[in-house]
Amino acid sequence: MRVGVTYNIKKQRTEDRGQKPEEGRPPDFFAEWDDEDTIEAIQAALSKRHDVVMIEANEDAYVKLRNKRPDIVFNIAEGLWGQGRESQIPAMLDMLRIPYTGSGPLTLAICLDKARAKEILSYYGIPTPRFSIYDLRITNLKTDNRQSSIANRKSLSFPLIVKPLYEGSSKGIRNNSVVNNEAELQNRVEWLIKEYKQPAIVEEFLDGREFTVAMIGNGSALMALPIVEINYSSLPAGVTPIYSYEAKWIWDTPDNPLEIFKCPADIDSRLKKDIETICINAFNTLDIKDWCRIDIRLDSHGKPYILELNPLPGILPDPKSNSCFPKAARAAGMDYDELINTVLDTACKRYGIQYGAKKNYNHL
Ligand SMILES: Nc1ncnc2c1ncn2[C@@H]1O[C@H](COP(=O)(O)OP(=O)(O)O)[C@@H](O)[C@H]1O
Ligand SMILES: [Mg+2]
Repeated sequence: MRVGVTYNIKKQRTEDRGQKPEEGRPPDFFAEWDDEDTIEAIQAALSKRHDVVMIEANEDAYVKLRNKRPDIVFNIAEGLWGQGRESQIPAMLDMLRIPYTGSGPLTLAICLDKARAKEILSYYGIPTPRFSIYDLRITNLKTDNRQSSIANRKSLSFPLIVKPLYEGSSKGIRNNSVVNNEAELQNRVEWLIKEYKQPAIVEEFLDGREFTVAMIGNGSALMALPIVEINYSSLPAGVTPIYSYEAKWIWDTPDNPLEIFKCPADIDSRLKKDIETICINAFNTLDIKDWCRIDIRLDSHGKPYILELNPLPGILPDPKSNSCFPKAARAAGMDYDELINTVLDTACKRYGIQYGAKKNYNHL
């Protein structure tokens, strides 16, 4: 089978992280794009079983897809600019009627807008922290005209966490993103809007344990891989217990890894079931396909809430780099190549595509 891989690549290698950013751009500007090692590892995994064609998700992508017409595409592209950037490649593929792994354009766009995703979860009664939005156009910290913001604003109680509305990979989430009073809130929101040129989402801060859940499958075959706990005791003393930009990209390096993830998480069967249930409900409610990583945090009473959903999860191949999805897969006995091929096979099954393997792949 001919498998296309659509991707965006970071023009710097993992070891160059923390380089001086281009002028006027925050240091985590490209944090969501994959590095060369990840793209090469995906290519290598798929090449074990298929003919692989690599398609960079740039402005020429549509023409390349139309000319090469892969049987299916493994999509990992974050897209180029705009609120709908992760939807760009899936929308092109829908137009060309080429099947692809993962969620469609609507779901990817909704999940990239943390507030929209939370509005839908709330509508269906799936727990997620209360929130409010501060928009670019509004001065003096008045909330924007989204109904949910107005409804929620007054009832939010400190501490709050301030995040960019349309980002991932802990972009814009720093050690001082948790605020305790109006003055701190004002400062942080102004900084974020100026630096990231987008609205800020402000949420009630949940101070309980944090988990992330890697999920693969669809319908009745949807399954949660072993749950990962974020172990805050591994962070430097005195810092805010959040998975911040510093925790993800500065304090944790392949040469000096933080022991930040514990997988499988040490939790009782009841909490495990509660977490898995809200994850499955959220996956289905948002019409996610094939795979997703869902971030969960407990409130002070131990009740789980959904922080956000990652339908294009990070998948760093090196076991020494802390990457939750591959880590959860390894805990389930699935190595990197098997993980990538399982995601592809999950999509093939959904589309009813059958193929003869290029090579025998015994694990599957
Ligand atoms: N409402 C919240 N309460 C407590 N911690 C939070 C909350 N929202 C985010 N965080 C912390 O910030 C981290 C990053 O936030 P998240 O919404 O997952 O953004 P990203 O898309 O960058 O991963 C989380 O892993 C968690 O540690
Ligand atoms: Mg997250």
